[in-house]
Amino acid sequence: MRHPHTRTIHRRVAGALAAGLLCAAGFAAPAAAAPPADPPAPADGLALTPPMGFNNWNSTQCGADFDATMVQGIADLFVEKGLKDAGYRYVNLDDCWALPERDANGRLVPDPVRFPDGIKAVADYVHAKGLKLGIYTSAGTKTCSNTGFPGALGHEYDDARQFADWGVDYLKYDNCNNQGVDARQRYRTMRDALRATGRPIVYSICEWGENKPWEWAADVGHLWRTTGDISDNWSSMLSILKQNLPLAPYAGPGHWNDPDMLEVGNGGMTDTEYRSHFSLWSVMAAPLLIGTDLRKASRSTYDILGNKEVVAVDQDPLGRQGSVVSSAGGRWVIAKEMADGSRAVALFNESGTAQRIATDARAAGLPGARGYSVRDLWQHRTYNTAGTLAATVPAHGTVLLRVAADPRWAAHPPAVELGLDGGLLLTAATPATLTSTVTDLGGTPARQVSVALTGPAGWRVRATSPASAAVLTTGGTLRTGWRVTAPAGTPPGSYGLTLRAGYRSPSGTAETVQVPLTASVVVPPPSGTSYLGDLPWLSAVNGWGPVERDTSNGESAAGDGRPLTIGGTVYAKGLGVHALGDIAFYTGGACEQVTASVGVDDEKDAKGTVAFEILADDTKAAGTGVLTNAMPAQQLTADISGAQVIRLVVTDGGDGVDSDHADWANARLNC
Ligand code: GLA
Repeated sequence: MRHPHTRTIHRRVAGALAAGLLCAAGFAAPAAAAPPADPPAPADGLALTPPMGFNNWNSTQCGADFDATMVQGIADLFVEKGLKDAGYRYVNLDDCWALPERDANGRLVPDPVRFPDGIKAVADYVHAKGLKLGIYTSAGTKTCSNTGFPGALGHEYDDARQFADWGVDYLKYDNCNNQGVDARQRYRTMRDALRATGRPIVYSICEWGENKPWEWAADVGHLWRTTGDISDNWSSMLSILKQNLPLAPYAGPGHWNDPDMLEVGNGGMTDTEYRSHFSLWSVMAAPLLIGTDLRKASRSTYDILGNKEVVAVDQDPLGRQGSVVSSAGGRWVIAKEMADGSRAVALFNESGTAQRIATDARAAGLPGARGYSVRDLWQHRTYNTAGTLAATVPAHGTVLLRVAADPRWAAHPPAVELGLDGGLLLTAATPATLTSTVTDLGGTPARQVSVALTGPAGWRVRATSPASAAVLTTGGTLRTGWRVTAPAGTPPGSYGLTLRAGYRSPSGTAETVQVPLTASVVVPPPSGTSYLGDLPWLSAVNGWGPVERDTSNGESAAGDGRPLTIGGTVYAKGLGVHALGDIAFYTGGACEQVTASVGVDDEKDAKGTVAFEILADDTKAAGTGVLTNAMPAQQLTADISGAQVIRLVVTDGGDGVDSDHADWANARLNC
């Protein structure tokens, strides 16, 4: 036991640090008590790096695909596709593996349809491949699925013994039907029961962060969920990221924050988003449990999950969870200290448009030096920098770097940053002007520099100033003007452009860098008053299903909403969204005001909490505090005079996106 007085002192010091971090990060985080300076980990040497493996839940839930054939198929693929070699070890069964009733002796019975030869046979199969087997139950009377399979409350020692006899190596212990018994007690009892078996079993606490396990579970389990369940969409991933980031001080070898399993490959996000998901989980030293059915996975899914350089960030033996260096306007810099003294640095763009994200080696925690090596972990290329770490990061993308104060830095080609000044909004047949920049970030010169901008077929793209330079020295920039014209009649919407630069390093190697950009073809807003729900939007991000026009958000398919209803009042017009929501409209400097009656839709139970914001060219023009399901509609009025673009943003009220159905009732625009 730690002396209570010592603990108080640690609390105060680390609390001040955490507060500084949160201010810099600029987001609301759960109030977390500070961790002990050196939390005791289970002294069993297990999970010294975050567990890696597979769990069926995110792909099958309790569906028929979940069976012994699947588990064996995954184990086979781990070996065949190099995932075992990349570090993936655990093949884990989630809920629904058992029959709903125990046998006459009180033992758990594997479902004979899913596991005809029992769990031991599956464990033997997995072990024969040099892999490990995980299982699931709940610290309650029943598990979480609606069917309700037997939980382990009151059966801890028998069930743990049973698992050990089957050869289980990992237990995920859920929180449903817990009968109100204190979580610490329930989770400690199972810890003791697992220890009593004498078998090394990784112990995964899954109480969704409800009892702040990061404050007490370092000597109970090897990992603990910090949030509610992830789902396969951008908003869910983002919301969980923001809840898990501030908990960085609590993670370490043998005791990890668990922001839930991976959704990579399940289809609800783009590959760019999945690369961000995987990069961010790795920088957070999160468990990497593959959540897709690998038997159906695409080449790009394997490329993401099998990226050993990214996995090495996650699995670094120092065991630090990366922390936020800066965060503003959706531009995140997250840095993770590595055992070799280098830093993994994620430049993550939360926003829906490409943005420049920049920091430097010192801010990322490295000592001062004349130059550094920079490894791009997705491009698999190494450059040098004089200190600046910067990139134009595509919407929802992440540039993941590993930066080191390397005495041989100058042997690598200089890093070159590509940028674009001026927005990519244009009206068909009207030329738009842009300026591209190519900047040498390296401590060595870039020679024979050239830049090209290409657009979709039929678009005219012309340089209006030189697009090449003989040499750029450190910090030097080639600026090039461009005229871009979309053909007459181009329908409003998003179109892809590519900015590319080529150069030669001092040793003569040819380098190319490129960034994908998105241009929006827009139409001017109508003059007078319009309902926003009747206008086309530039972009729309929504937590569940699509944004609905004139109905609430039904969560899945388009058109599945109900009448917009806040506090018993029904509205005929408006927009129905689900946190995290972000809808952008082009206003072209021609509009003055946005008004709306906002609130949580009555259709969900009392859990929904959201906050509304109206942004005019990324500046907050109006907003609410956190609104709950119990509150009546609140009137919002925003002065948006002169704005080119406005955004209607809904955040999650700080508690995750669950049940966050947000209505922009009567949302109107005056132009
Ligand atoms: C809870 C957990 C999930 C999953 C299901 C199974 O919701 O948080 O990860 O295990 O139960 O029913």
